[in-house]
Amino acid sequence: MSGSELLIIFGTETGNTEALADDAKSFAKNFDLDGKVVDMDDITVEELSDSKLLLICVSTWGEGDQPTNAEDLYEAVCDADEGAMDGVNFAVLALGDTDYEFFCESGKEWDVLIEKKGGTRVNDRIDCDVDYEDDDECEEWIKTTLEKFSNL
Ligand SMILES: Cc1cc2nc3c(=O)[nH]c(=O)nc-3n(C[C@H](O)[C@H](O)[C@H](O)COP(=O)(O)O)c2cc1C
Repeated sequence: MSGSELLIIFGTETGNTEALADDAKSFAKNFDLDGKVVDMDDITVEELSDSKLLLICVSTWGEGDQPTNAEDLYEAVCDADEGAMDGVNFAVLALGDTDYEFFCESGKEWDVLIEKKGGTRVNDRIDCDVDYEDDDECEEWIKTTLEKFSNL
């Protein structure tokens, strides 16, 4: 595969964002992007810093909490130096449930954090409710975002 590498990380409890990350990897080929899907538990801050194109797929658990597999990485990025995400072009796909008070809170936190650490947002975050598979909005957002990544 000759396209630019797109790092796709997922934070999940029950696999929904992992499935969306896999979808994004499949679609990425159509945009000449080489998608690489990685569990948030299996990546370091340094690897995130080195990525040029970063898609974050993350759900929210508890009462506005990060999923378990996202906690350590989130804390590590919080502790990282200012500018740690310089050169990282990113977008956040957040999954949640509007029945909860803190809808898509962890996705919102990632969105703010990566920008605060120097990252450049390529598309506005999408906050998806439980019925996200019932219409094309989520899939369309992924494709639009991939196109933006591919034009960088
Ligand atoms: C116990 C529990 C707590 C949840 N807490 C929240 C929450 O605080 N905010 C929110 O937006 N969604 C919340 N959700 C909804 C999940 O984020 C949603 O079901 C999501 O699709 C799960 O994706 P995942 O399989 O990738 O973890 C919660 C769901 C469960 C079962």
